[in-house]
Amino acid sequence: MIENPDSLFKQISHGIYVIGVSDGIHQNAFTAAWVMQVSFDPLLLALSINPEHYSYQLLRAGGICTVNVLGQDQQSIAGHFGRSGVRDKMAGFQWLTGKTGAPILSESLTYFDCEVSHYTDAGDHKIAVCRVIDAAMLNQGQPLLYVQTEDMDGSSEFYAESAQ
Ligand SMILES: Cc1cc2nc3c(=O)[nH]c(=O)nc-3n(C[C@H](O)[C@H](O)[C@H](O)COP(=O)(O)O)c2cc1C
Repeated sequence: MIENPDSLFKQISHGIYVIGVSDGIHQNAFTAAWVMQVSFDPLLLALSINPEHYSYQLLRAGGICTVNVLGQDQQSIAGHFGRSGVRDKMAGFQWLTGKTGAPILSESLTYFDCEVSHYTDAGDHKIAVCRVIDAAMLNQGQPLLYVQTEDMDGSSEFYAESAQ
C-alpha cells in the first residue's frame, strides 16, 4: 500500500508539453507531462500516451508529432490542451508547420519535430519512441514543471485502489 501516490509521483520531475499531431488531413494537440529523452544517437524522445485519446488515433495514422515546451506563464495553455472533446481545439493559437508536417505551437519555448520510430505497451498507456528530425528555440523563458500544475490532469483519481 502506498499512501498519497499522486503527491509522491508528482515528485518525479517532468516538464509540460503540448504534443501536436497530424494524420495528414486532421490535426490536434494535447498536453503531456510524461515525455523524456531516451537516446543521444539517434536523438530519440519517448512519449507516454493514453490510447483512448483522439490524438492517439492521429498519431498512429500519421506517425508524426511535435513536442512543444510550455513556459512558466503558460498554465492556461496546458489546461486548454489538457481537455478532450473540445471542438476546434487548435483555434485561437498560431501554428507553424514542421518539416514532418506536424503542427508547431508558435508561442512555445522550444519545439521538437518528430517521426514515430516504434511503440511499446506500458500498462494503460502506449509509449511512442520518436526520432527527432528538427528542433529549435522559439521564445525565451523557464519551462513549466508538472508539479506546478497540481491536479490539473485529475491524476489524483487515476491511481488504482491497490496503490492507495
Ligand atoms: C498537466 C497535464 C499532463 C498530462 N499528461 C499526459 C500525458 O503525459 N500523457 C497523456 O496521454 N495524457 C496526458 N494528459 C491528458 C491529456 O492532455 C488529455 O486527456 C487530453 O484531453 C487529450 O486530448 P485529446 O482527447 O484531444 O487527444 C495530461 C493532462 C494535463 C492537464
